[in-house]
Amino acid sequence: MMKTKDDDGPTRKIPRGRKRNSSYMSDSGLAKKPTSTSMLQEAVSEGKKSQEADTWFRNSFCPGNKRTSNSPGCDRRWTKPATQKLEVNPAMSDSGILDTSDSLLAELDLDLFDDIPKTSSDHKTHVGSTHGSCGNGEMKNHILIKNEQSTKTSVSLTEMSLKTQIQVNSVNEEKKNQIEIKNDFHEQTAKTPKSVSVTGFSLKDKFKKQMQKNASELTPTRGILGQLREEVMSRARDEAAQIHQKGTDVDIGPFHGLPSKVEHLLKTQRGIAKLYEWQEECLQLPAVLEGKNLIYSLPTSGGKTLVAEILILRELLCKKKDVILVLPFVSIVQEKVRNLSQFAVELNFLVEEYAASKGRFPPTKHRKCSSLYIATIEKAHSLLNSFIELNRMDSLGLVVVDELHMIGEGGSRGATLEAMLLKTLHCGTCQIVGMTATLNNAKDLQVFLHAEMYSNNFRPVKLTECVKVEDNIYTVNEKALCPDEKLQHERVVMFPYSAEIKQQDPDHLLGLVLEVIPDNSCLVFCATKKNCENVAIMLSRLINKHNKKLTDVKKTERKALLRELYKDGEGQICPVLQYTVHFGIAYHHSGLTMDERRLVEDSYSDGTLCLLTCTSTLAAGVNLPAKRVILRSPYVATEFIGHNQYKQMTGRAGRAGIDSTGESILIAKKSDKDKLLKLLTGPHDLCHSSLMYEEGKGIRKLLLSAIGLKIVTSTEDVFTLMEKTLMAVQSKTLQVDVTTVTKNSLQQLIDLKLVIQRKQTLSQDGSTELCLEVTPLGKATFKGSVDIDNSPQLYRDLKKAEESLVLASHLHLLFLITPYDFVNNIKANLPWMVYFKQMNTLSPVELKVASLIGVPESYIAQKASGQSTRQKVDEFVISRFFLTLILYDLWQQRSVWDVSSRFQYPRGFIQNLLSAAASFASCVFHFCQELAEFWAFQDLLGNFVKRLTYCVSMELIPLMEIPGIKLGRARQLYSAGLRTLQAVANADPETLVKKIEHMPRKAARQVVASAKVLLKEKADVLMEEVEDLVRLPEGSL
Ligand SMILES: Nc1ncnc2c1ncn2[C@@H]1O[C@H](COP(=O)(O)OP(=O)(O)OP(=O)(O)O)[C@@H](O)[C@H]1O
Ligand SMILES: [Mg+2]
Repeated sequence: MMKTKDDDGPTRKIPRGRKRNSSYMSDSGLAKKPTSTSMLQEAVSEGKKSQEADTWFRNSFCPGNKRTSNSPGCDRRWTKPATQKLEVNPAMSDSGILDTSDSLLAELDLDLFDDIPKTSSDHKTHVGSTHGSCGNGEMKNHILIKNEQSTKTSVSLTEMSLKTQIQVNSVNEEKKNQIEIKNDFHEQTAKTPKSVSVTGFSLKDKFKKQMQKNASELTPTRGILGQLREEVMSRARDEAAQIHQKGTDVDIGPFHGLPSKVEHLLKTQRGIAKLYEWQEECLQLPAVLEGKNLIYSLPTSGGKTLVAEILILRELLCKKKDVILVLPFVSIVQEKVRNLSQFAVELNFLVEEYAASKGRFPPTKHRKCSSLYIATIEKAHSLLNSFIELNRMDSLGLVVVDELHMIGEGGSRGATLEAMLLKTLHCGTCQIVGMTATLNNAKDLQVFLHAEMYSNNFRPVKLTECVKVEDNIYTVNEKALCPDEKLQHERVVMFPYSAEIKQQDPDHLLGLVLEVIPDNSCLVFCATKKNCENVAIMLSRLINKHNKKLTDVKKTERKALLRELYKDGEGQICPVLQYTVHFGIAYHHSGLTMDERRLVEDSYSDGTLCLLTCTSTLAAGVNLPAKRVILRSPYVATEFIGHNQYKQMTGRAGRAGIDSTGESILIAKKSDKDKLLKLLTGPHDLCHSSLMYEEGKGIRKLLLSAIGLKIVTSTEDVFTLMEKTLMAVQSKTLQVDVTTVTKNSLQQLIDLKLVIQRKQTLSQDGSTELCLEVTPLGKATFKGSVDIDNSPQLYRDLKKAEESLVLASHLHLLFLITPYDFVNNIKANLPWMVYFKQMNTLSPVELKVASLIGVPESYIAQKASGQSTRQKVDEFVISRFFLTLILYDLWQQRSVWDVSSRFQYPRGFIQNLLSAAASFASCVFHFCQELAEFWAFQDLLGNFVKRLTYCVSMELIPLMEIPGIKLGRARQLYSAGLRTLQAVANADPETLVKKIEHMPRKAARQVVASAKVLLKEKADVLMEEVEDLVRLPEGSL
């Protein structure tokens, strides 16, 4: 509050955060003229304020109430420096109305007092206020002239009360009045002597007199300024509403438009102090600033993610819109959810996980804060379908796709990604941002997405690529013009190998590895899973024999890791890991359980482990860089590696901020020389549309959902849509006739009874047109995200089960949700003896289920005894039921380890089956929701899906729902007394570190943050339900 000695009127409150001498006041000291932008911004913020601050109570019971108190977000707003475009921060006032009128009046002020000479006196000159009566209204005009320290003079006119206003008949009249007032003042000021006395009395008196005069003259147009303000405000409000709807580029902080908190979080959470030059440059691209679609490509580890994250935060926090972030794998989604939870807690937005069986459909609409949906490709597609179906595309501001080149991966995933992006383009106005590896035909993607392209070769850590052939190491010369010069001889490896070592390790792996470990880290990529384990054992054995002292490194931590692995395995531990961990070595592939993977990854990141032998999946997965990367052979399984795969793997070399250089060594045989040179000199990979996989299955899926969502309703629409696909962009290269394949696909959908054509009469002239519609089965198929080819089978299975469903155990239900896709993985070599043994453990009721499904016990017995049998059975059903038995064991809470050893399948396979089953169960549930005839399944499958996801006792489910919490952790938390989501969300991370064994501080913070985000999301859903319940219906009196 600022009050000077002559101030006898109500004094203007200086809102917090607003600086008189910076943004609000001009350098000359005169009040700065508020721009129309500031008025607009004011209106935007006013709209936002009332929206944010209104409580459910006000909404429900006092719908007409006007808010005047501070918006909760006000204090957080950042005032831009005076030099920037938006100079007045309007959201700082106690009331939007007062503030706005101020701005308007200040506009007049400037005109009025432009010619007031500045005084060099450091006296404070204050001219008091004049109270004037405005007919039956009240109007208090307050003029404040303040000379502070040399040249600073401020003049502001504050209208303090605008409670009553008189309608003015025409706007023109108002404007006339306004001009009259101005002229009047000009007359007065013109008479003011050039040098104003420091006492200022004459000026004060003149103002006072003029104000009184004005006040009395304004009687017939009482509140004319108010009228004017209203007019400007209403225009601004309209404009603001439009902008608010579209989203604005309102900055809310100094860090790329974001609050400094973001900068702080990046520093503390990620150790990022400064953006790379290319990141700054990319964020300044016109395409980015204008919200256009963008594709950017950089080498691996270039820091692409950070740019996307800043764009995401801008969308969530500045534009208040939702964002979908599409990531390629479930594990990466989970990692990202954990990673961004702290940001969500601090910055007040929601992070929602959409992977495997997680994710709510339809997504909850949160009114109070925006949501970041982190999703796998498949879930992102379903999510987008929901947004289209619910007419919520307006609330979606941005779709970010990491590894955009996966669109060309072939198969279902590539096709799904293309379908998702096509629908985003077709149905919304939201921005699409894609990150991709360097491609040779990125132009096609650019045309498909109507996107700008940005590429850069930046790499924070220099990478030296080497190839080892026999005893020679060559460096790869990037600049070589002809293939012969591509490999430059660097050195001959001369490790002091005994004959024994030479025999065991002919490739000199040990020597190459010992050049970096244990002080630095090393990744060894192997062709197969088995090879990973073998190499890990071989290296450990050799170290044990010849470098035993390496077992002393990080001894305590490694022991703790082993204890942890043992605990998570419920008393069992993988013998390979049990051996290799002592040497700081572990293997990493899909055969590990999720808990093991997490533990191995965390231990590698914190240095407990210094070497991982892994398959190529690690390269595309989590961010685990190494000082040296060794490619054990240029093959992935039996295929020679592709350019992008090679770049992905070698790109892991060099840890940003730790290493100054990174090295990759590809071990190759002389016989691979030609292929090798092709790999190193050849062009980058190409990315082609995957819609044509399995004879156009991608097209059929796309059309089914497009018709189901009513994106297209006629054949013409279908052709128009298909012309926008990446496939159409590449039709010449792919030699695809888009019209023919579209026609064929549509016909197939009609033949499958998923789509029908109906004649529809046009109302205008009575003519008819053919309309496309999905059948109920078609709708269930696309809403349940069920594979088109599996959908008729699923329908038949459910129909059959409906007549004789056995509910005495869960076996029958488990059979119905056993994923069809998994059957092909085991069909060829079923362990019949194991199958038979399992059948023998079944009770009569369970055997009845088997028999109803079509699995006769006698058939399994004959197979187990090696006899040939003439019994007619469906082999597919037999194999599928074997998977059901695995799931049944897990359902009965047997550990993954137990089940793995009983069924003789790797524990990673068992766990993947469980997660696929949970995912498919949720598909079946949604499938049934669309078909009234399956009412019984609608009720039966709801909770079943949730329990299946975790296959644990009910009390652990609330803990398992927290992103990143696996069974082992859930048990630990439970026994430490943290038994509910609330308990974990409110726990002190330090307490977790103390109470829970082997819980790193970083992990503890992530667990608490993830729990907080989940709790907030759940609470928000409930609060919004309450608000909806108590809100007066529209139109009610
Ligand atoms: N400005 C920066 N300063 C320091 N480190 C950074 C910066 N930007 C990103 N990083 C770090 O660089 C590492 C690699 O970044 P990121 O994962 O985004 O790479 P990428 O380009 O997505 O690579 P890939 O293609 O392998 O996915 C991360 O650990 C990240 O935290
Ligand atoms: Mg990346």
